[in-house]
Amino acid sequence: MHTHDDAQAVFDQPFWDNLYSERPNIWSGHANQVLITEASKLTPGSALDVGSGEGADAFWLADNGWKTTGADISPIALERARQAQGDRTVEWLHRDLTEWAPPAASFDLVSAHFFHLPPTQFQPAVLRFGDAVTSGGHLLIVGHGPSDALASQHGHAEILFTADQVKALFPTEEWFTVVAEDRARTGTTPDGEQVERLDTVVLLHKL
Ligand SMILES: C[S@@+](CC[C@H](N)C(=O)[O-])C[C@H]1O[C@@H](n2cnc3c(N)ncnc32)[C@H](O)[C@@H]1O
Repeated sequence: MHTHDDAQAVFDQPFWDNLYSERPNIWSGHANQVLITEASKLTPGSALDVGSGEGADAFWLADNGWKTTGADISPIALERARQAQGDRTVEWLHRDLTEWAPPAASFDLVSAHFFHLPPTQFQPAVLRFGDAVTSGGHLLIVGHGPSDALASQHGHAEILFTADQVKALFPTEEWFTVVAEDRARTGTTPDGEQVERLDTVVLLHKL
């Protein structure tokens, strides 16, 4: 990450491209367990994975009957995903999610895993993700919360979010909360050490 004069962290395309350039693979290559658990309960339709990274979640969606689109700010990540997709059909979009409004009411599932930005950028982006969900569709937001020991040690507390903070963005007249909780999982550090993680999980159903 780099900083501006006010020392606020900037998570822009150079930041992500630099991260992806460090190693041939940054993430595990496995779909996130929360996606598997929650999306397995839904009827497949069209899905948008925002911040799709190296593509593992998009691959799982495509393998499980979803017509899948992945969007990411990093061309390096997108190219890596393209190279790894095999014979799956996935549409890849190079987009800055702090600016891009996905087409309204177009996806039966919009899924964001570990998409973290300061609240002034995160909240409008998440609202745009919600706008992109069809009536009857779902919005799945998963990330690190302030109670996650590892994430909170890394500083930048402002980019962590709770389930209540996400849920509060969406009016109850339009959205039914299916899940809003902290969910434990066992994670692995870059050094291969196993650690207990606590993910913020929010699944909303658009009425
Ligand atoms: C922590 S990674 C998570 C990747 C993937 N969702 C996963 O769970 O393995 C965050 C991803 O979001 C992407 N990203 C971050 N800010 C973004 C932005 N403003 N617009 C689009 N993608 C962004 C990054 O390039 C990165 O691939």
